[in-house]
Amino acid sequence: MSDASTRFLRACRREPTDRTPVWLMRQAGRFLPEYRALRARHGFLELCKTPALAAEVTLLPIRRFPVDAAILFADILLVLEPMGVGLEFAKGDGPVIARPVRTGADVAGLARVPVDTALAFVLETIARVRTELAGRVPLIGFAGAPFTLASYLVEGRGSRHYVHTKSLMYREPAAWHTLMAHLADVTVEYVRAQVGAGAQAVQLFDSWVGCLGPDDYREYVLPHMRRALGAIAAFGVPVIHFGTGTGALLELMRDAGGDVIGLDWRVDLGDAWDRLGPRVGVQGNLDPVALFAPPDAIRRQVARILARAGGRPGHVFNLGHGVLPETPVEHVAAVVDAVHELSAR
Ligand code: CP3
Repeated sequence: MSDASTRFLRACRREPTDRTPVWLMRQAGRFLPEYRALRARHGFLELCKTPALAAEVTLLPIRRFPVDAAILFADILLVLEPMGVGLEFAKGDGPVIARPVRTGADVAGLARVPVDTALAFVLETIARVRTELAGRVPLIGFAGAPFTLASYLVEGRGSRHYVHTKSLMYREPAAWHTLMAHLADVTVEYVRAQVGAGAQAVQLFDSWVGCLGPDDYREYVLPHMRRALGAIAAFGVPVIHFGTGTGALLELMRDAGGDVIGLDWRVDLGDAWDRLGPRVGVQGNLDPVALFAPPDAIRRQVARILARAGGRPGHVFNLGHGVLPETPVEHVAAVVDAVHELSAR
């Protein structure tokens, strides 16, 4: 029926699996001592841009845990660099855009460079990882969704209230839609190139779209997501459509597209799936902070989420957002094992 090599892709297609597949957002990140050792010697962008190193980081969690998918090591913000806005990952500060986009003139001034050339290093990483994985588990590619990319472009960094982003949206709606249409085009071309290079599924990260109410989502985001996800659907790989804080947006996100809808921990997985209906799968939704609890408590939380999925085909187990850097490595192992043990059919 299925094993570790097929479980994840089968679940994305809502086919039955022997166990519930599990992978973790940010599984290739700072909670791993091997990653921190590499980072002591290389900058983050340098790791992303060196295919041999990026492939190695992609494989670190696969060597340690029996997760059912690998996720490409890269970043959603890499596509912004060729636009000429000055992307940096400042120490302790997270990403910074040196020249944020705040006006219609700024939008018009964005450099337009073919993404498959500018980000050829990502495509080479994908090819290397596929060779090294040799079919053991599938490889997930990913991209930022237009709203979340726009939020970094406009704010220039992470944000709490998205004042500049929403100001552009409300004050210069024509410039906003031009920006979103451009980011949607770039996302589609980037995903096309990733699938061409060997990505077997893709996740679109709309991590911060939950800062919008439903009417604003419908007006300022949905048309662009529908167009992008419609184009991506033709590439023939499953698409996971992810956001956080999206409890009020789930039906709209489903209508925008995607085979699997990502859920954070603020929603009940069973209720959310009932709302979404049987034509989509769901991914999630353990609170990343639950990994700081003792292993027996983690196991109970996993059991609760599996019970809410109720054995419906189409559940991909994950956290509701990325693994936090201080997470104990053994607790990550405990989640993965608990999912496989408690979901065995
Ligand atoms: O999930 C994985 O393990 C694959 C690699 C991956 C990274 N970033 C590596 C990374 C993925 C899928 C991302 C996506 C990403 N990047 C998102 C969407 C997911 C989410 O968290 O909501 C966002 C918003 C970004 C932007 C970004 N990149 C931020 C805000 C930061 C700094 C804060 C943080 O979480 O580390 C980054 C840096 C980053 N991206 C790191 C890693 C491993 C840490 C860099 C370091 O080593 O210092």
